[in-house]
Order: sequence, then C-alpha cells, then structure tokens
Amino acid sequence: MKRWQLTLLLVIVSGVPGLSIAFPWDKDMVDQPSEKPQESEAPPDPGSVPVSGGESLPLPLNDEQSFARKDASADLVNPVAASADSIRRGQEFYDVNCLVCHGAGGKGDGPVGLKFVEKAPVDLNDAYTQDQTDGELFFTLTRGRVKMPFYRDALSPSERWDVINYLRSEFGSK
Ligand code: HEC
Repeated sequence: MKRWQLTLLLVIVSGVPGLSIAFPWDKDMVDQPSEKPQESEAPPDPGSVPVSGGESLPLPLNDEQSFARKDASADLVNPVAASADSIRRGQEFYDVNCLVCHGAGGKGDGPVGLKFVEKAPVDLNDAYTQDQTDGELFFTLTRGRVKMPFYRDALSPSERWDVINYLRSEFGSK
C-alpha cells in the first residue's frame, strides 16, 4: 500500500464513529457527573435569599402621584432612634451622598449645588424641610425629587433614617 493510500485509509477509518480508535483521553466531557442549574444538592445558606426588606413605597409616575405618595408617607414612623451612633452614621452618609449639592451647612451651596441654574438644592435649615415629618423626608430620599436623585439603591432604609436623624440634629435650629 502506498503511503498516500495508507493516510487516506487512516483518515476515513478515524472519521467513522464506530470504527474510530478510542483513546482514554477521548472520553467525552458529557460523560462526567454534572449538576444542571437549579439542581444543586447544596442547600443555600440561611439568609442568602432575602424574604423581607423590600421597598414598600410604590413608584410615582407623575408629579401629582409624587405629591400624593409623599403625603401618604407622612405617617411613617422613624424606626431608628436618634442616638449619637445613628447621627454619626447619618453624617457619614450625608457627607458622601448629599454634601456635593446641599453643602456642609445644608444651605444648598455644595460645589455641585452651585451649578444648578433653575432650582437650587433646598436649604435644609429652612422650615420647608424641617417642618416636614420624618416620613415625608424618607419619601424624598427614597424616590428623589425632580432634579434631586433618589437614594433607594445607594442607602438602605435604615441608612436613610440615619441621614434623616442627622438632618434633624445638625440643621434647622442653628
Ligand atoms: C445632585 C444634587 C443633589 C444631591 C446629591 C442631593 N440633593 Fe436634595 N435636592 C436637590 C435639589 C435640586 C432639590 C430641589 C428639588 C425640587 O424641588 O425641584 C433637593 C431637595 C431636597 C429636599 C426637599 C425635598 C422636598 O421638596 O420636600 C430634601 C429634604 C433633600 N433634598 C435632601 C437631600 C439629602 C438628605 C440628600 C442626600 C441623601 C440629597 N438631598 C442629595 C439636589 C440634590
């Protein structure tokens, strides 16, 4: 048999499934024991699937709804006591999230706040903010307000209450 004939024969033989030579390392990966998605025998750790803590304030779709939902939030009770710890945490969150617009003194004169042309960030010392209930402030932090961003993904509910405790203790009376 000529060399080219032998090569041709080898190519043909190894291409025919039943005839191909099986080497140990040929074993198909499909033959390995495998677990399909959601078939895992490993139980999830307790607490890894959240069953509570979802947002309960529905999304307003227009200004009218926004005011209505803010009114409806007025009675929400602040579950976080205004302890020194909570106020300290609130200050940290305020410095990171709010100071750029509302300024260190809450006057709406943060570096970004000064760039606002139409409506400046409100002065948090004013009665307009201080006379609102904690629940109304919670609504604003959760859903935002026109040009003010919302914080429902950046701050957990208890962190938002910390910020509110800080707004009450730091601004207004001074
Ligand atoms: C990007 C700038 C910006 C940031 C950041 C920002 N605000 Fe504001 N905030 C505004 C502006 C602008 C308004 C006025 C909105 C309007 O009425 O049009 C406002 C309004 C408010 C009001 C009054 C809402 C109302 O009408 O009752 C409160 C309270 C407030 N901000 C608190 C906060 C707090 C607390 C944070 C941080 C968690 C924060 N803001 C972050 C720009 C900002």
